Amino acid sequence: MEEDDDKHHTTTTTMAVIAVVFFLFLSTLSLATADDAAIMKKLSTTLDLTPPNWSSDNPCKWQGVSCDSSNRVISISLASRSISGTIPSEINQLSSLQSLSLQNNHLTGTIPPLANMTQLQEVFLDGNSFSILPSNFLVGLPNLQTVSINDNPLPTWSIPRGLSESSSLQEFRASNTNLVGSIPDMFAALPSLKDLRLSYNNLTGSLPDSFAGSGIQFVCINNQKQGLSGVLDVLGKMPSLAQLWVQQNAFFGPIPDLSNCTSLFDLQLRDNQLTGVVPPSLSKLPHLMNVSMQNNKLQGPMPAFERGVQVSLGFTNSFCKDTPGPCDPQVTALLDIVGSLGYPSDLSDSWKGNDACKNWAHITCDSKGNVVVVNFAKQNWGGLISLSFANLTSLTSIILNGNDLVGTIPSVLTNLKMLQKFDVSNNNLTGKVPNFSQTVEVITNGNPFLGTNVDTTKSLKSPPDMTNSPSNTNGSPSHPLKSRLSSYEVAGIVVAAMVLVLAAGVLLYPRFKRWLFMKVYGSNKYNFYKGRKSKVEALKTSPNGKYSKGSPIDKSGMLSNGQILFYHGDNIPIEVLREVTDNFSDSNILGRGGFGIVYKGVLQDGTGIAVKRMESNLQGSKGKREFEAEITVLTKVRHRHLVALLGYCVNGNERIVVYEYMPQGTLGQHLFEYDQAGRSPLTWKQRLVIALDVARGVEYLHSLAQQSFIHRDLKPSNVLLGDNMRAKVSDFGLVKSASDQGKYSLETRLAGTFGYLAPEYAATGRVTTKVDLFAFGVVLMELITGRKALDESLPEEQAQLSTWFRRVLITKEGIRKAIDPKLKTDDEEIFESICKVAELSGHCTTREPQQRPDMSHTVNVLSPLVEQWRPAESEGDNDYVGINIDMSLPQALQRWQAGETTTMSGYSSVNYHSSAPTTPPMGESFTYFEGR
Ligand SMILES: *[C@@H]1O[C@H](CO)[C@@H](O)[C@H](O)[C@H]1NC(C)=O
Ligand SMILES: *[C@@H]1O[C@H](CO)[C@@H](O)[C@H](O)[C@H]1NC(C)=O
Ligand SMILES: *[C@@H]1O[C@H](CO)[C@@H](O)[C@H](O)[C@H]1NC(C)=O
Ligand SMILES: *[C@@H]1O[C@H](CO)[C@@H](O)[C@H](O)[C@H]1NC(C)=O
Repeated sequence: MEEDDDKHHTTTTTMAVIAVVFFLFLSTLSLATADDAAIMKKLSTTLDLTPPNWSSDNPCKWQGVSCDSSNRVISISLASRSISGTIPSEINQLSSLQSLSLQNNHLTGTIPPLANMTQLQEVFLDGNSFSILPSNFLVGLPNLQTVSINDNPLPTWSIPRGLSESSSLQEFRASNTNLVGSIPDMFAALPSLKDLRLSYNNLTGSLPDSFAGSGIQFVCINNQKQGLSGVLDVLGKMPSLAQLWVQQNAFFGPIPDLSNCTSLFDLQLRDNQLTGVVPPSLSKLPHLMNVSMQNNKLQGPMPAFERGVQVSLGFTNSFCKDTPGPCDPQVTALLDIVGSLGYPSDLSDSWKGNDACKNWAHITCDSKGNVVVVNFAKQNWGGLISLSFANLTSLTSIILNGNDLVGTIPSVLTNLKMLQKFDVSNNNLTGKVPNFSQTVEVITNGNPFLGTNVDTTKSLKSPPDMTNSPSNTNGSPSHPLKSRLSSYEVAGIVVAAMVLVLAAGVLLYPRFKRWLFMKVYGSNKYNFYKGRKSKVEALKTSPNGKYSKGSPIDKSGMLSNGQILFYHGDNIPIEVLREVTDNFSDSNILGRGGFGIVYKGVLQDGTGIAVKRMESNLQGSKGKREFEAEITVLTKVRHRHLVALLGYCVNGNERIVVYEYMPQGTLGQHLFEYDQAGRSPLTWKQRLVIALDVARGVEYLHSLAQQSFIHRDLKPSNVLLGDNMRAKVSDFGLVKSASDQGKYSLETRLAGTFGYLAPEYAATGRVTTKVDLFAFGVVLMELITGRKALDESLPEEQAQLSTWFRRVLITKEGIRKAIDPKLKTDDEEIFESICKVAELSGHCTTREPQQRPDMSHTVNVLSPLVEQWRPAESEGDNDYVGINIDMSLPQALQRWQAGETTTMSGYSSVNYHSSAPTTPPMGESFTYFEGR
């Protein structure tokens, strides 16, 4: 009985324990469920426009919410419902949540604090307005498979390294979310990752090494603000790669061998700085459908692809020919040689075309067009010595000293019969030095590991100084041949120096001569000087003209020294300007602009000047400001493609600026109003020359050493043309000093002109030199299409030229249809040239300012196109940029050698052509400055 009692007792106890445990379990469960419900209720209050049944009591019944059998919330799905509001931070306590889809709504505030949610598998938050980032974002999520948060205006953030704990991650998409920093090297820890999309951010740095061997199929890292950089090599080791978008970055070096990426169908490489030969294996990829490579610096044969592949190669790469097919053998060999050095970027600008003897840097040819010298001295290039040197059979010198070359010296180089000098000193070469002929001077010092294993092969009949230990290879004077060659070397240096001096003399001679004559013989010897002088004379000594003795001008004393008007820094008396403009008569108006009226003034000899009188209602402040800006700039800059300031006048409230007169009016008139003025439309050649002139003028403004300037109002009505149809940039009223670059303009007036305004400038007022690049791109588009930057008579999607033309310029057919009908385009050469300029215009008008080129790049693209049509034409006197004759000879020489053309004060003899006392077109339609 007692036993039974005991048993019974035991049983009762056991049952009670079980009951308690069960109760506890149940209560825990209901507590958790209650928590989920509370969190969901909170969510329903912070969101607006939730589905109707979100007011009921049981969240598991709400539309878009699903729960597991124990009423835990496992998924919330509210995509594309125009919901606004915020997400409460408690959402990360939904500990069973597996899936969160809130994409394409108007959610704001803190992005859900996704951290330490052990069940979470997928998150979609794309296309909202989340602007706050919690700490610990994307950390401690062991089951995470998909993160997609594209298009959110987050504060700048970097890819969290904690993401590597999510070892099941398959998709990570965070395009356009203000990501900065580098792509972490964490892909070895993410073996399931298939899809990586990080476009339109500001990621920098290079591709991570752990991309190698990963299974990633989709890599979209295009359009980074400053640009990812480095080489693309690692991509060749991503065998699963299917879609690769790296366009609009700053990658350099060659396109890697992608032959192991057999699934690749879409390869976007455009708008980088890639160099070198396109790997032939690329066109053999079996699934390739879409390739872009334009706007790089690719060299070698133009690649050919199967029919059906959509290819855009652009027109500004440096392929050896305009059609596919092998390059000249010397070009092929040289490209192979620099291929072993990783195709250094600095070479791609000069190593263009199919003739290595045509101004290729580091290359010297003989008169028969054979490469005789390859000189890569002291470039710090790394890499190997290529076997292809042996293909350049006329080589006499191979100079490779002062680099970071590794590997061995190929023995085939001993086959070069003409070789006299082989200098590989100061590198890091290894192995044996091959057996060069005795007549070859071989210099190998400064390679600590070279020849280290040569001791055992002393029996080989190498020259002693080559087979000795490294310390002895240093040009040992004990070796007779070596010391004799050393004295040749000395002689060589002397000769080279003399050649240099001579060459410099020849190059500098005409300018120097002109300068010297001017200095020594005075003013009458040279036209450009005489021209200016004659105008002065015209003002000064006119027997029966306006400027006779006794005129108020004379009384002012300005004429007595013969230096009136053209002497910078002098205030021209208002009387002079009244005289030359017939008291600012309406019949002399050239045009009206935002800041004033421009009058033509006629000097005694018939030559014109342009007199801009600031608008009187602006005299108070703005007019003065523009006036001062313009005078400040124009007294500091002198360039043959910037309109020259001749003087100015401050008289009471009156502000007047005097420029050289440009008889052919504005580019705008020639492009858009040529028939009204009875002119013929500009030819393509004329348009190219004008574009290059403008590019050079603005390049100069941007690149002044002391203080550079941003024009801010580049447009065809501010480009003036001379009788030779050469262009000068004018109107410096809005110019900003580039030292203010990046500052936000607080001016209330919108500076600049619609249609030419760079988007970032229009949006934020942020001023950099890149706003001029954008405007220049639009001017190029106007030159190509003959259409105005803004044409409101057209349908909305075409009204803004830059937007419309950027869409059409992608294909040649698009460009062909958009070309100004006044241009004849049946000439293929012209069409090719137009295509190149179209591509350049696209590059200049890129949305991201950092991705627009520099002005010097536009000069580099345009000048060969111009040369194509006027190879022999020299710029002649045009090329002469002013030397201040009041400077001392050494000062002047120094300035002029430094390419500095600034004259702060004093004469500028530039930009003055007396040759044509012209009778310019003076019709009413002549306007200098278009209204803003
Ligand atoms: C392609 O893969 C094979 C086999 O893994 C390898 O030997 C070869 O080097 C790879 N090629 C390239 C260009 O990486
Ligand atoms: C090729 O890529 C361009 C730009 O990414 C895209 O517009 C085009 O539709 C693609 N074509 C094909 C065939 O994938
Ligand atoms: C060098 O010459 C050899 C033999 O003529 C040829 O097979 C090879 O393609 C050439 N290499 C280059 C890079 O030109
Ligand atoms: C030269 O090469 C050796 C091995 O090849 C290497 O250990 C050394 O660091 C290199 N030196 C320099 C300066 O690159």
